[in-house]
Amino acid sequence: MSSNVATDDLTILGSGQPLDLPNEGRKNLATPGGDQSEKAEAKLPHALNYYSLRDTARRRLPRGLFEYIDRGAEDETSLVNNRRSLDNVRFQPRVLAGITSRSQQTELLGYTLKHPLIVAPTAAAGLVWHKGELGLARAAAAAGIPFCAAMESIISIEELAAATNGAIWLQLYVWRDHALTHELIGRAWSVGIETLVVTVDMAAIPKREYNSNNAFDVPIIPSLKGCWDIVRHPKWLFCVLLRHMLTEGMPIHANYPTRFRRSIFTSRSSGRIGFDLSLSWRDIGELRKRWPGRLVLKGILDVEDARRAAEVGADAIVVSNHGGRNLDSAVSPVDVLPEIADDVGGRMVVLADSGVRRGSDVVKLLALGARAVLVGRAFLYGAASGGEAGAQSAIAMIGDEIDRTMALVGFRGVGEIKRSVLRTDFPLGRHAYHDALASGEETNKRESPSGDAND
Ligand SMILES: Cc1cc2nc3c(=O)[nH]c(=O)nc-3n(C[C@H](O)[C@H](O)[C@H](O)COP(=O)(O)O)c2cc1C
Repeated sequence: MSSNVATDDLTILGSGQPLDLPNEGRKNLATPGGDQSEKAEAKLPHALNYYSLRDTARRRLPRGLFEYIDRGAEDETSLVNNRRSLDNVRFQPRVLAGITSRSQQTELLGYTLKHPLIVAPTAAAGLVWHKGELGLARAAAAAGIPFCAAMESIISIEELAAATNGAIWLQLYVWRDHALTHELIGRAWSVGIETLVVTVDMAAIPKREYNSNNAFDVPIIPSLKGCWDIVRHPKWLFCVLLRHMLTEGMPIHANYPTRFRRSIFTSRSSGRIGFDLSLSWRDIGELRKRWPGRLVLKGILDVEDARRAAEVGADAIVVSNHGGRNLDSAVSPVDVLPEIADDVGGRMVVLADSGVRRGSDVVKLLALGARAVLVGRAFLYGAASGGEAGAQSAIAMIGDEIDRTMALVGFRGVGEIKRSVLRTDFPLGRHAYHDALASGEETNKRESPSGDAND
C-alpha cells in the first residue's frame, strides 16, 4: 500500500513502559476454535489447484485489483525466482514406510495449529469479496490455523475479533507518530490479539509499475481507465464494491485512528499517520518493551538480522521477501532459510513465506527449517473465488496436498519432516508459471501474467 511519508522525522517510541491492559474478556486463543460464522456465502467452489483459483479470481476481479495482488515489484525477478527456488528443491522419498495416517498438527507460540499454515496479512483481502477479511478469518478458524490481519485492512480488528473465535494476529507497519501505533496495539491487546507481526521490509514504498499503468493504487484515484475496468466486472462492482458502499459506506482503512479514517478512494496516508520508513532496531526494542504478547518480525532474509531479532526479544521471525512485492532481485526465502533456521531456530520460532502455490512447497519450507508457513495469494484467490467458502476450500486444498506429499515422501507428522529428504543440486527448474511470466521479453511490458485479465 502506498504512503508518501518522508523519512526524516523519526519519533522514538515513548517511555517504553509495557502496556497495561485489561485481561478481562480476552479470549483464549491458544487453540483456535470452531467457526461461528454465518452460513458460508457461496457454494464451495471447485479448488482443483492454485491455478484454477487464480484463474477464477482473474475473471472476477477488476484487472487493476487482480494485478495488484498477483504481480511483483519492478522487473518481478524476486517474484519469478521465488518459484524457481522452490521448484529447484526436490524430494528423495523413502518408500514402504507402512504409514496409515498422518498428522499436520503443530504447536508454536502457544497455539495448536491443525495445519502448519498461517493466513498471511494481505491488505487487499477486504476488496476481493464482500467482507473478504472476515471470510478468510472464519475459514482460518474453521481450519484451525491463525489468521493474520493486515493493519491496512478495511475491516477493524474489533469487528474481526467479535466475529470469529479463531486465533487472530495483527500485522503492523509502524506509523511516523509512534503514539498512534501504541494506541493501535493497545486496541489489539484489548480485543484478545496476542501476536503482533511487525513488517520490517518496508524501508521504502516499493515500485509496482503495473499499479500506475492500471490506475490502481491506494488511494484509488478515479480515472476513466479504472472506471472502465470496474464496469467490465459488474459482479465485483455490485457484489463487492456497491454492497460495501450500501452497507458500511466507502471502504476505509478501518484500523486507523478515527480521525485518520478516510475512504481508500480519497486518502493518501501522510503526515503523522504515514509509515515510519526509517524504522530501526531501537524502535523494535521499544515495541518489545511495550507489547506484552508475542512479537514476530516479518521480512528477515539475513542471518545477522535473524540474530538481532532474537537478541531484541522477538519470539519469531518470518523469512520472507514479501512475496516478491517489495525489493526486486531479493534472495528467495528458500535460499536463505536453512542457514537462518540452523542459526536461530533453537532460540526462536522461524516461519517462512513467499511463492507457496502447493502443499509440497509447504513441506519443502518445513524441511528447510520453517516451523509453519504463511500463505498470501493462494488463500486470497480462494476468497476471491467464493468468499469464506472459497477460502476454506483453498486452505483444505493446500492441507490435502501437504498430506499427500507427506505420504509420498514418508512422514507421519510434521515433526518428522527433515532436510535429508531434499535434493537441491539441479539446474534451475522451469515451471509453466515461469513460462507464462517470461512470455513478454521485458516482464513489465507484458499485459498480464497470463493474458487478458478481463471477463
Ligand atoms: C495483495 C497483497 C497484499 C499484501 N499486503 C501486505 C501487508 O499489508 N503487510 C504485509 O506485511 N504483507 C503484505 N503482503 C505480503 C504477504 O503477507 C506475504 O508475505 C506474501 O503474500 C507471501 O507470498 P505469497 O503471496 O506468494 O504466498 C501482501 C501480499 C499480497 C499478495
